[in-house]
Amino acid sequence: MSEKRLIVIGAGGHAHACIDVIEEQGIYRIVGLVGVPEEIDTDHLGYRVTAIDSDLPQLAKSSQYAIIAVGHIHSPALRIRLYQRAIDLGFHLPTIVAPTAYVSRHAVIGAGTIVMHGATVNAGAKVGNNCIINTCAVVEHDVTVADHCHISTGAILNGDAKVGSGSFVGSGSVVKEGVSIGSECIIGMGLAVRHNQADTTRFTGSRKS
Ligand SMILES: CC(C)(COP(=O)(O)OP(=O)(O)OC[C@H]1O[C@@H](n2cnc3c(N)ncnc32)[C@H](O)[C@@H]1OP(=O)(O)O)[C@@H](O)C(=O)NCCC(=O)NCCS
Repeated sequence: MSEKRLIVIGAGGHAHACIDVIEEQGIYRIVGLVGVPEEIDTDHLGYRVTAIDSDLPQLAKSSQYAIIAVGHIHSPALRIRLYQRAIDLGFHLPTIVAPTAYVSRHAVIGAGTIVMHGATVNAGAKVGNNCIINTCAVVEHDVTVADHCHISTGAILNGDAKVGSGSFVGSGSVVKEGVSIGSECIIGMGLAVRHNQADTTRFTGSRKS
């Protein structure tokens, strides 16, 4: 079987967590990290930053796979830009699932999405492309998560909830069953979301919004 060479785009804290999951999954061989110029030659869990964004066309000639490993809290813009660039250059963006996660065979997970350790994606759930389903997050039955979302550590999306494109759900927050969160929303950490949230809402609790 030919080697599956994978480029990790990003070299911060989220990239470290992604590296661990990719290693544990054991399907892809990480052949390099792409960072910002100040990160060149820095070491991350035994992998070196050898390239910056402008080197991606060259890297695409020798590596078929890439994963976007920069984080997303305030804005999905950087992850979206890098994802689109990687696609345009012909990289294949695989779905990465930690062996410690549970993904139902009745769930669908998109390209470039990573499901981190201990997360659950239950039956009938649909998760789009370029999402982060972070450590121990729960995406319950029949939930829809659109492209470019980050469901943070320990967040819970209860049955039939919906999350629109580019939205962030903070660590430990709980979304009531059937509730819809619009696109490009920021839901702070540790909150209960009981009502629908319009596009671009920044929800930090208290009011119904
Ligand atoms: C919502 C959030 C992004 C806002 O960040 P910010 O723009 O830097 O704003 P601040 O954190 O300075 O918060 C301003 C005020 O909003 C309110 N607020 C913000 N987030 C809140 C939250 N999660 N719950 C309750 N109130 C919150 C508070 O009144 C806060 O003032 P205080 O710090 O004096 O208590 C941030 O608070 C948050 O929740 N981040 C998510 C962290 C997370 O889940 N990380 C996981 C990564 S895997």
